[in-house]
Amino acid sequence: MDGRLAVESHVPALELSNVSFAYPSAPGDVSSPVLEGVSARIPQGEFCLVVGANGAGKTTLLRLCKPEVAPAGSLTGEIRIMGRRACDLDVADSARSVGYVGQGDDGRIVCDTVWQELAFCLENLGMDQAEMRRRVAEVSYRLGLEQLFRRRTSELSGGQAQMVALAAALVAEPRMLLLDEPTSMLDPIARADFAHALFKLNRELGMTVVVATHEPWALAPYATSCLRIEGRSVQTVPLEELSAPPELALGRAVTTSPAANDAAVTLSEAWQRYGVQEPWVLRDCSYRARHGEVVAIVGGNGSGKSTLLHVLAGVQRIRRGRIERPDEASQALLPQHPEALLACDSVLDELMEWSSGQAYGEPEARAMAERLGLGDVLGRDPFDLSHGQRQLLVLGKVALARPRLLLADEPTLGLDALARQRVAELLLELSEAGSAVVMATHDLGFVRSLATTTSMLFDGGIACTMPTHEFFERNVLYG
Ligand SMILES: Nc1ncnc2c1ncn2[C@@H]1O[C@H](COP(=O)(O)OP(=O)(O)OP(=O)(O)O)[C@@H](O)[C@H]1O
Ligand SMILES: [Mg+2]
Repeated sequence: MDGRLAVESHVPALELSNVSFAYPSAPGDVSSPVLEGVSARIPQGEFCLVVGANGAGKTTLLRLCKPEVAPAGSLTGEIRIMGRRACDLDVADSARSVGYVGQGDDGRIVCDTVWQELAFCLENLGMDQAEMRRRVAEVSYRLGLEQLFRRRTSELSGGQAQMVALAAALVAEPRMLLLDEPTSMLDPIARADFAHALFKLNRELGMTVVVATHEPWALAPYATSCLRIEGRSVQTVPLEELSAPPELALGRAVTTSPAANDAAVTLSEAWQRYGVQEPWVLRDCSYRARHGEVVAIVGGNGSGKSTLLHVLAGVQRIRRGRIERPDEASQALLPQHPEALLACDSVLDELMEWSSGQAYGEPEARAMAERLGLGDVLGRDPFDLSHGQRQLLVLGKVALARPRLLLADEPTLGLDALARQRVAELLLELSEAGSAVVMATHDLGFVRSLATTTSMLFDGGIACTMPTHEFFERNVLYG
């Protein structure tokens, strides 16, 4: 590789001409095209948002534009990247033309440490050491990653991993960046920083940026155009039309904290860290959740929310302190990456997996699928669902088991407005039936509408626990 790829300015960064795509059909499944006759043109230097409901085809579209991750299936029409057909790009051309950061956990991070992750793609391209060092240093500096540089990637928080993945895509100095839901795991402050970093790459370096997102309003001030995928085709949307989703309509009041209810889990003066040499993640942390309510834990990226949930679930043992878990036999932890809970070959089998020990059967499983909008994909392999569909599936699976304690890590991650509404109804119903629902989330709109109390995790402990409305009234910066 020798410097940046030269492309004449009139050549579009991305051009789709009459593109249709269908995934291979599964046995017993009639596969219909995801995209049909799509034509679109993104000039160089654009900052383009791609929106659409869960399962609309955003990820499919982005992946088709990066040869190494293009999905298998039947593709017709033509995709041109910087004027060249996508299928003609070799590995080096592809690296210089397109940087791609996938959604969720999709093969994002492959190396043990952050610096190895950043050097990985350059090593594969056979770049010399000095140039490699310069690029890695420059990108780390630009994105403020120096603090993370020597960290193990397995120990990064979700938001930190998202920044590292962006950095790893940038070191090859691509002309265009394709990002799939890059802000979904970021706290509100980090999200603003991330948006600004993209803005600078776009305006200062002239990099074309294409972002698939369910939170377009967060990036709209920086964007120059927007495409919506709907009904297998793509339309242009004026940026002014992008607004935050309406408040959740729950149809009933969320009752405030029934403090008299019995505790579902109690943590007292707990200390937790990932190794004897590592800093404490939880320090003298106390927390209690009660049956019959939905409560929220908020806090910055890396503040320890997921660690706290793992501790409350008993998945991680604390080093010091006490924990009482009366619901040990009836609890569920919904992890940040829902794939960890998937074990079966079809959506229906997945929903039925815990039926034997629980009081539900196939009719309830089918009803849950309908309710979550998964009625048409019951026979499909869960790994062939879109990310949002998968998140809904895992929530449905957990809700069918009716756990007395549900610990949910980012339950609305990557969900569209309708799916968010469905998840809110589901969690509320569980709590009304007597379960304790504890969610760790950056989705403050969701917290506002649903949680009776909100706790903020800071410096390893619970800095405050308050009725939710009071929390938002007092916290001018957080919300
Ligand atoms: N490997 C696959 N095999 C079969 N069908 C698939 C596969 N991957 C995705 N699909 C289907 O293709 C459609 C588009 O999925 P895609 O992941 O592109 O949607 P998306 O817009 O990115 O959704 P989300 O907002 O949930 O991320 C969905 O109906 C999905 O179920
Ligand atoms: Mg997607």
